Amino acid sequence: MLVSGILLSFLCGSIPFGFLLGKAKGIDIRLLGSKNIGATNVGRILGWKWGLLVFLLDFLKGFLPVFLIRFHFDVHQTSSDLFALICGLASIIGHNFTPWLKGKGGKGIATSAGVLLALMPKVFLLLLIAWFGILFFTRIVSISSICAALFFPFFTFILYPNNPLFFFFSIVASFLAIWRHRSNIKRIFNGTEPKLNFSKQNK
Ligand code: G3P
Repeated sequence: MLVSGILLSFLCGSIPFGFLLGKAKGIDIRLLGSKNIGATNVGRILGWKWGLLVFLLDFLKGFLPVFLIRFHFDVHQTSSDLFALICGLASIIGHNFTPWLKGKGGKGIATSAGVLLALMPKVFLLLLIAWFGILFFTRIVSISSICAALFFPFFTFILYPNNPLFFFFSIVASFLAIWRHRSNIKRIFNGTEPKLNFSKQNK
């Protein structure tokens, strides 16, 4: 059960929805915009509706495995936090390093958000508010995502002070998210990171 759960979560996370949608629309998303397969870049290149669809699908890859595991264990009245957390991490790693694209996956924000909603809904809500708030002022998605990743361990510590497992997970997930935004960080510092603009394309 343990190994198959982790493997299934990894496989679920590894489905590169942004890439597949791009292919269905006749483009290789890895060659356009930020070259990322995530929702932001799909929205940037194909229009916000497609970006939103990719966000939802990537989100579900993180949400479903963790939610189902927690539900299953709750029915049997046993604690599932550690197992759910490992599966959530497996799903994020599957997305970020998908074997179907030779390990070059996405940045894991939507998938991490799905894991968070299923595992720590209060932290999810706070980070969501912070993410939108920062986006409102900066208009740069990657700044919102990086800031949310930085806030993640702090919010977890404040809202779950007696849960070292959650805190450890928040540190790992935060590090992973920031690490995957290395190219964005370079662009932010040299002033070339694009602002949000989904208005012109809607194919
Ligand atoms: O979630 C990814 C986002 O933070 C940045 O995406 O395409 O601008 O690199 P992108």
